[in-house]
Amino acid sequence: MNLEISDFTFFNPVKIIFGKNKIEELSRYVPSDKKVLIIYGGGSVKRFGTLDRVKAALKNADVGEFGGIEANPTFETCMKAVEKIKAENYDFLLAVGGGSVIDGTKFIAAAAEFEGNPVDLFGKGVGSGKPAESAVPFGSILTLPATASEMNDGAVINFKEEKAKVGFHSRHVFPQFSILEPELTYTLPKRQLANGITDAFIHVLEQYLTYPVGGMVQDEFAEGLLRVLIKIGPDVVDENNHDYNLRANFMWTATLALNRLINRGVPGDWSTHSLGHEITVLNNTDHARTLSAIMPSVMTVRKLKKWDKLVQYAENVWDIRTGTEEEKIDAAILKTIIFFKSIEMPVNLSDVGVNSDDIDTLVSQLEQHGLTALSERGDQTLDVSREIYAHALNTDY
Ligand code: NZQ
Ligand code: ZN
Repeated sequence: MNLEISDFTFFNPVKIIFGKNKIEELSRYVPSDKKVLIIYGGGSVKRFGTLDRVKAALKNADVGEFGGIEANPTFETCMKAVEKIKAENYDFLLAVGGGSVIDGTKFIAAAAEFEGNPVDLFGKGVGSGKPAESAVPFGSILTLPATASEMNDGAVINFKEEKAKVGFHSRHVFPQFSILEPELTYTLPKRQLANGITDAFIHVLEQYLTYPVGGMVQDEFAEGLLRVLIKIGPDVVDENNHDYNLRANFMWTATLALNRLINRGVPGDWSTHSLGHEITVLNNTDHARTLSAIMPSVMTVRKLKKWDKLVQYAENVWDIRTGTEEEKIDAAILKTIIFFKSIEMPVNLSDVGVNSDDIDTLVSQLEQHGLTALSERGDQTLDVSREIYAHALNTDY
């Protein structure tokens, strides 16, 4: 086994502005000579007054609006924003929303400057996977801690016709700045709070639960983030608990979970995300709910492959110190399931509307999207993915 940290570069230029009343400082961060397009989702930012605050803060700027980015943002809707940008010459974008709005804005920013058909920014059976060479600069105001899109260079877009959910990365789509006001989470319903805790938790696991290479900092950071999420999760999902520090810890943990700090030089899995995206394509299940339904089965079916890290997870995250290695692993898997259930997340496929007849469809979607060699070793074939889906379906936790 390779016990060596791989060579890496780390680059993250996103300015984070964290705390109270930061939207009011927006004019410091949005260049004054730009024409700004504010991009938002289905209307929560209107209902809860965030959009009014943004517009008041930018009252001296030339601003327009584009609303209607869906949860699991679609290519079609984003392309309407691209048309508006080109027709009306916007040269700065401001995403106000959760991961979907920020991801949508990243794609819009790159597509508006892309020569050719922007579908080619994506690979995996949808486009030709050409890199973006530039993007309209943008900032973000985060309203839902979950994805860390506010501090990374990735975006995931939903293609309805092609039945695919595909991501792209580009150094051109890091936000220039992201405003993180923990108080913006006070309007989130329980379901989205639980989704956020879970998405962040699984982001850490995807980058941690692989095989050891001796990345001490990466491992300790990952274990710390997991322990924080376990500690605060049950309180965070109480939508009436507006304790500032609770929500501040939630927001910063979710950002750190996927700003690429913990995965430098160490292997990554991401098979739970790949299997989960296919469920969203199938029946539009919330992103995080697909993950909690799959992860316990990934841990179980891939136990031998992930053995050492599962033992480490049991000991350092769940403080399971007694028993054989296998007993520790099994106890940690059970604790994970109990944790998800305690925040009312689904832990098997029937909880997310998938039945045995759907497994063939999910596996053929994986094949169509080229997801035939997943996980940290690339040895998760379609047969193994089928086994994971089947396990997630049949196991009664
Ligand atoms: O659309 P609006 O009306 O704003 O309502 C949203 C939406 O219905 C609502 N919401 C957001 N902030 C709120 C609020 N409601 C009340 N108060 C607030 N403060 O919450 C709903 C869900 O929002 P969404 O943005 O879809 O959720 P999330 O942040 O979980 O983003 C999910 C998307 O991000 C992608 C997922 O695949 C999915 O498409 N991901 C992006 C990643 C990345 N860029 O690195 C990584 C992730 O693994 C993930 O794949
Ligand atoms: Zn995720």
